[in-house]
Amino acid sequence: MNTMNATGINAATTEGGQTADATEDRPYGPTRGQPFADEAKFKLRDVSVYYGDTAAIKKVSLDVARNEVISFIGPSGCGKSTFLRTLNRMNDSIDGCRVEGQLTLDGDDIYSDSRDVVELRARVGMVFQKPNPFPKSIYDNVAYGPRIHGLANRKSELDDIVERSLRGAGLWEEVKDRLDSPATGFSGGQQQRLCIARAIAVSPEVVLMDEPCSALDPIATAKVEELISELSESYTIVIVTHSMQQAARVSDRTAYFHLGHLVEVDETNQVFTSPQHELTESYITGRFG
Ligand SMILES: Nc1ncnc2c1ncn2[C@@H]1O[C@H](COP(=O)(O)OP(=O)(O)OP(=O)(O)O)[C@@H](O)[C@H]1O
Ligand SMILES: [Mg+2]
Repeated sequence: MNTMNATGINAATTEGGQTADATEDRPYGPTRGQPFADEAKFKLRDVSVYYGDTAAIKKVSLDVARNEVISFIGPSGCGKSTFLRTLNRMNDSIDGCRVEGQLTLDGDDIYSDSRDVVELRARVGMVFQKPNPFPKSIYDNVAYGPRIHGLANRKSELDDIVERSLRGAGLWEEVKDRLDSPATGFSGGQQQRLCIARAIAVSPEVVLMDEPCSALDPIATAKVEELISELSESYTIVIVTHSMQQAARVSDRTAYFHLGHLVEVDETNQVFTSPQHELTESYITGRFG
């Protein structure tokens, strides 16, 4: 049984986060908080991810709600990036990586044999930790996706998409006179916003971000966070972050992972002010991680 003590911490937890309600599948007990949503964009059930014989993600069940911003937090190596990559099959290219469980996007199986992975990645875009612009001009970076997906019939249409995406990424004013300059000549923060512009140029429904600000200074980070808040009006955003302040600032819900298990997920405010699991509490108070 779980009983809440005066501090709101789950009194059933014991040393090392093992709980009275532990099972073999869930040594830390069932996922605490609110893993499920009424309007699910992704429905993920009993998802396990293996590298060879080793499970990096263990029986995780979670909904990602439409148009929410959800943060994944947890100690290094707990499986945040691995789990994020399952959402658009970025792990397909990793040798020996295998995904089990049910994963659906708008009700359709993400891993079915008939799934068009190129189309999936156009709907579920990704921004990486290190800005990775192509060695091309600003214009060609943003136009790349729309060109391969045939989203523009005329040059003027492509120009419009490029401008709209750069505006959406908060970069237009800084680069509008230098669209033909190589992207690699811009600052790290500008390059990261360019990568966000490139991701949104194909009108995705979801944007996955794996520590998008870890290589940026506080000013560039603030710009990207502002951008995430603006994008959240139109997109579903899943962001991995090591910064608890960032999770608190940008996300509606926060999910805490530990050694491949989803220990707790709830409204961000709830997770940071009264976490239910001892492990979550230890992490957010800086006792480990
Ligand atoms: N390509 C791979 N091959 C084998 N094992 C891997 C591979 N990628 C990750 N792992 C293992 O899977 C586990 C989860 O790794 P993952 O990168 O998902 O963690 P993370 O939470 O994103 O960590 P970090 O915060 O350091 O980025 C780790 O034990 C890691 O060593
Ligand atoms: Mg990672």
